[in-house]
Amino acid sequence: MLPDYIQTQADLGSSTTLALPARAEFLARITRPEQLAELARHPDLAGRRRFVLGGGSNLVLTGDFPGLMIAMAIPGRQLAGEDPQAWYVSAAAGENWHDFVQWTLAQGWPGLENLSLIPGSVGAAPIQNIGAYGLEAGELIDHLEATDLNSGKSIRFSAADCAFAYRDSLFKREGWHLSGRYAITRVCFRLPKAWRPRTGYGEVAAELARGGIDNPTPLQLAQAVITIRQKKLPDPAVLPNSGSFFQNPLVSAELAAALASAHPSLPRYPQPDGQVKLAAGWLIEQAGWKGRNLGPVGMYEQQALVLVNRGGAKSRDVQALTRAVREAVLARFGVNLSPEPVFL
Ligand code: EPU
Repeated sequence: MLPDYIQTQADLGSSTTLALPARAEFLARITRPEQLAELARHPDLAGRRRFVLGGGSNLVLTGDFPGLMIAMAIPGRQLAGEDPQAWYVSAAAGENWHDFVQWTLAQGWPGLENLSLIPGSVGAAPIQNIGAYGLEAGELIDHLEATDLNSGKSIRFSAADCAFAYRDSLFKREGWHLSGRYAITRVCFRLPKAWRPRTGYGEVAAELARGGIDNPTPLQLAQAVITIRQKKLPDPAVLPNSGSFFQNPLVSAELAAALASAHPSLPRYPQPDGQVKLAAGWLIEQAGWKGRNLGPVGMYEQQALVLVNRGGAKSRDVQALTRAVREAVLARFGVNLSPEPVFL
């Protein structure tokens, strides 16, 4: 007998923001951490392939999933502690990321405002270390709790354990996001009381200037970010997509300099290690793919980095466009793009 929170042959069509059709052999909807320990020891589920699903905003389903899909829906958020320097705010994995960020701001605990309107869930945020407009979630994570799905035991990971980097963490590097080894159940953020707005990102500064705002409050900064995102990034509820479809590539300083002399408008972001980050959206636009479709999928007209499903797309359509865009950018610039979402 399977617990009543598990469905068999479950439709996953609305479980990801890219809205590709697929089914899961088993789908468990988790609302309490104890259910994870139950799954770990259930004899009918032992040894099966697993995958932990958050908001589905960074996931490409390439077919039916032969195993156990674990949808994290644990609710709850609270002030976990406070000291003279910081507030410690904790949220369960199933909380919607944007709602959580807006709630922290309404409570008077700023810090996460630059990450407003990122689709997805709190539990998924650490895995690829979500980031936007000069801030990455990992910078403000104090620790997190995860259940080891082999043993059913809960484990605490400090921020240092998580080894956050650009769109990366220990969870991703070890492949645990693919193997379903851990389910992140709760994330605790340390939000310093000495708050300073991060307005270094050109577009944010420009949006604030447009509103005549010199010294933004956290809520004004959140609003600026929301306005920018709404202009450039499609709402998955209206036009299915999974956000940035490629990572911004890191290239050698030599290659960046050579490209810049041939293309003076090339955006370049030098990194502390000497490499240079390029803007994948710019490369894709220059390679002719901005606003262009291939079958039912295309690269979005306002932000070439976003692959959109214009209706009825299958995974093979997404894979064909991924290949076409990568080949075009490689042929034109000699730069290899890596997809950002997880392909399952
Ligand atoms: N650009 C173009 N054409 C385009 C898109 C971008 O020329 O079609 C140029 C822009 O003009 C700008 C540069 O490329 O000079 C960078 O563009 P943008 O500021 O829009 O940011 P991005 O590097 O394309 C990254 C993140 C986004 C995040 C924004 C803002 C990655 C892979 N993407 O995009 O994250 O919102 O910065 O911080 O790092 C996501 O991961 O899903 C996501 C949306």
